[in-house]
Amino acid sequence: RVAIVKLLRHGVGAIGAELTICGWAKSIRFQKELTFVKLSDGSCLSELQLVVDAQSDGWQQLQDEGATGCAISARGAVVASAGAGQSVELRVSSLAVVGASDGAAFPLAKKRHTLEHLRSLTHLRPRTNTIGAVMRVRNALAFATHAFFQQNGFVYVHSPLITGADCEGAGEMFQVTTLDVGKPPMAAGAVDYKHDFFGKPAYLTVSGQLNAEHYACAFSSVYTFGPTFRAERSNTTRHLAEFWMIEPEIAFADLSNDMDCAEAYLRYCYRHVLEHCEEDLAFLDKNYTPEGEPSLFEKLKLVVSQPFARMTYTDAIAEVSKVDGPAAGVKWEFPPAWGNELQTEHEKYLAEVIFKKPVIVYNYPKECKAFYMRLNDDGKTVAAMDVLFPRVGEMVGGSQREERLDVLLQRMEELGLDKKDYEAYLDLRRYGTQKHAGFGVGFERLVLYATAMGNIRDVIPFPRTVGQMQH
Ligand code: 4AD
Ligand code: MG
Repeated sequence: RVAIVKLLRHGVGAIGAELTICGWAKSIRFQKELTFVKLSDGSCLSELQLVVDAQSDGWQQLQDEGATGCAISARGAVVASAGAGQSVELRVSSLAVVGASDGAAFPLAKKRHTLEHLRSLTHLRPRTNTIGAVMRVRNALAFATHAFFQQNGFVYVHSPLITGADCEGAGEMFQVTTLDVGKPPMAAGAVDYKHDFFGKPAYLTVSGQLNAEHYACAFSSVYTFGPTFRAERSNTTRHLAEFWMIEPEIAFADLSNDMDCAEAYLRYCYRHVLEHCEEDLAFLDKNYTPEGEPSLFEKLKLVVSQPFARMTYTDAIAEVSKVDGPAAGVKWEFPPAWGNELQTEHEKYLAEVIFKKPVIVYNYPKECKAFYMRLNDDGKTVAAMDVLFPRVGEMVGGSQREERLDVLLQRMEELGLDKKDYEAYLDLRRYGTQKHAGFGVGFERLVLYATAMGNIRDVIPFPRTVGQMQH
């Protein structure tokens, strides 16, 4: 069995080859003498045309059972195609409809569906051109992620999903509980299995960072890449309750090394996609780049070819403060003020209007950021950085970590964190502490920028968001 992508890569070079191809019928056109099947196997956007005649084995079954959505296995010879948009097709000698489909009831039989409607069909939407293209780009970005870090000597560490720690300190965790239906009652004094993880409160992780730090303090350079969970009630086009995060952590590195690494990584990813996903990018660009915006290729080339802008938080606040007011044509919903979070509207403005390319904002007020970030000499800001992208906003959040035990303890005390819960983390500062830094990339936001999609729900196979979970 040969994948369609492989056959089409050979193009006319494959003419004369005898092959078996398997896939699902996107459409079937019955004519008197010939039946034409557009077959897709998900290996690429293009479909392969099967040409079947009455002499072909299986002709009658195809007449009886062939319908949009059915699964087909076909054998035949590759021939040149006269049809538009295809160099070759398969002249079928034998064919079997291995899985019939009720064409009239098949939910994707109609050509056009809104993305919103497709979200209610998460089991079938992978067979659409759009989700097909998006998921192949997502796959390429996952591959590029491993390739980049492996080539640069990082060790892949699997951080746990069940944890007792709230890394970001935002209290946005899902708690893990045990189902005790039908279990015998617990003996007095035994571990309570009922409402927690074998007697201890436990949560789904919001970030693998703290675990990554443990491994960075032994392996020097590590990265995690896995699911993370946030119980934040943000019902937006950029927030998921379950999303994937890439979190590198580098020992003997400071904030500037951290920014360099993030920039090199993002550039590598988008170069990889430009080099390997041309057909899918062209489809997504044609269908989803909003009117008047640069093409998807231009947007990706911008990232690959130009250094990102860099600006301190203090300067960023000054910059967005300048434009507030109807006179400048911008009215902030949240007026910027030093000490407050940069809001999405400010972040997008910086990336889209001021710099027109990705910008790294760094040195944030300590009040805006998590306990583990390294305090700067001014005593007010921490060595944090966010990478902001046009259209997407915050794609990366990272920092240099506080490696000084006394400063870290002081900071934890200010925030009311219980030392007892962080002994392991503190030990890393007791035994061979060093400057280290890392960042987290929201994988779906990385995919958003590469696909021109507008809603994060359409770039993850099975979206979980506030109040919504299909399958
Ligand atoms: O900025 P965040 O919260 O940083 C951390 O979790 C750090 N511990 C990372 C680190 O230094 N190792 O999250 C990192 C990134 C964000 O920049 C954003 O791209 C993405 O994760 N992200 C989300 N993506 C989708 N849905 C959500 N609800 C997200 N929350 C964060
Ligand atoms: Mg952040």
